[in-house]
Amino acid sequence: MSEQKKQRVARYDLVTPMLPVKDQIMTDFEQILMSGQYILGDHCRNLERDMADECGVADAVGVASGSEALYLALAMAGVRPGTEVITTPYTFEATIEAVIMLHARPVFVDIRPGDLNIDHEKIEAAITPRTRAILPVHIFGAPADMDPILDIAEKHDLQMVVDMAQAWGTLYKGRPCGSLGRMSTLSFYPTKNLPGIGDGGMIFCREQADADRIRQLRGHKALWINKNLYCGWNSRLDEVQAMVIRHRLAHFAEEQRDRDRVAAIYDARIPKRNRLAVEDLDDGTKVTYHQYWVRCKARDRLQHRLDSEGIDTGVYYDPPLHHHPLMEYCREAGELEMAEVAGREVLTLPIHAALPFETAERIATLVGEFLLRQEDAAAD
Ligand SMILES: Cc1ncc(COP(=O)(O)O)c(C=O)c1O
Repeated sequence: MSEQKKQRVARYDLVTPMLPVKDQIMTDFEQILMSGQYILGDHCRNLERDMADECGVADAVGVASGSEALYLALAMAGVRPGTEVITTPYTFEATIEAVIMLHARPVFVDIRPGDLNIDHEKIEAAITPRTRAILPVHIFGAPADMDPILDIAEKHDLQMVVDMAQAWGTLYKGRPCGSLGRMSTLSFYPTKNLPGIGDGGMIFCREQADADRIRQLRGHKALWINKNLYCGWNSRLDEVQAMVIRHRLAHFAEEQRDRDRVAAIYDARIPKRNRLAVEDLDDGTKVTYHQYWVRCKARDRLQHRLDSEGIDTGVYYDPPLHHHPLMEYCREAGELEMAEVAGREVLTLPIHAALPFETAERIATLVGEFLLRQEDAAAD
């Protein structure tokens, strides 16, 4: 067995990308430790400012996680008991947990097979007098097709909150993903492309008033808005997380170049019909590959084949959320066939800034050959 084959290829490497910033992190950690300013200090405020500027929005508010970001943003958007929020079933459960925690109902609309994001053509049929907001998710770092969704929201006077937990750096037709909804929410969970060393999140706000109110709520201040009383909460991004994230933000472009290179290696060997066809997105859209996915009818056999070669892969979201116990609180709007198929067929390959390009070549070759054999077998 060759040396390369013996060493397992992990899906993530959380440590190697920390090495270029390790010394600065250790120096700043000591400064924070000795300052006594552990919560809501300059690191948090500067990170909020820098990230809001990158997205071109009025302000951003650091919070305790991507889940908390969703909860607070949806609350600010007027999602209240008895209202409905239209979203995708092909996402992580945090997307709907936030809606349910607000005693509102997630309503599932099917996805598009090409990018696995919510299918805008199915949204209008899901709207009822109770609908308050649309909650698209930019799944795996590929943007949902936002222009038609924004038009629907405007036409029906609905709020738009966007779950961009997996999509820092993603552009939709040249526009940063954090700028597309009234509020957009991000996660700094350690496996995300822009990670902390613990939990953290950010809410991007187009309106300063939203940011000001969320800042109050995250720090235990109760608020009256339109005769509704909102309970304060503890949801703060601490200084250590904010400091680490600031250092990683400074290296984000470089790391993204390496992820792009890995994705290009995969793209070269994997047929367009089995993956996200980035070649078709030549309109200023930028995908950041939180995950690189392939679609294959024999998904489990492909996973097994890669596993036998020492390559770790991921299965998402199988089954999709309309099979989750939380479905009790949700509603299906029409068939969710494309989400079912994606749950059965999607496999994600290792992609991160520290993945050696030779390893990516080896994985691409294995996957490409497997898919070709599948096709030959289907043709027989
Ligand atoms: C799509 C999506 N939404 C929300 C979240 C929640 O973020 P967090 O883990 O920071 O609470 C995640 C995190 O994995 C996610 O992938």
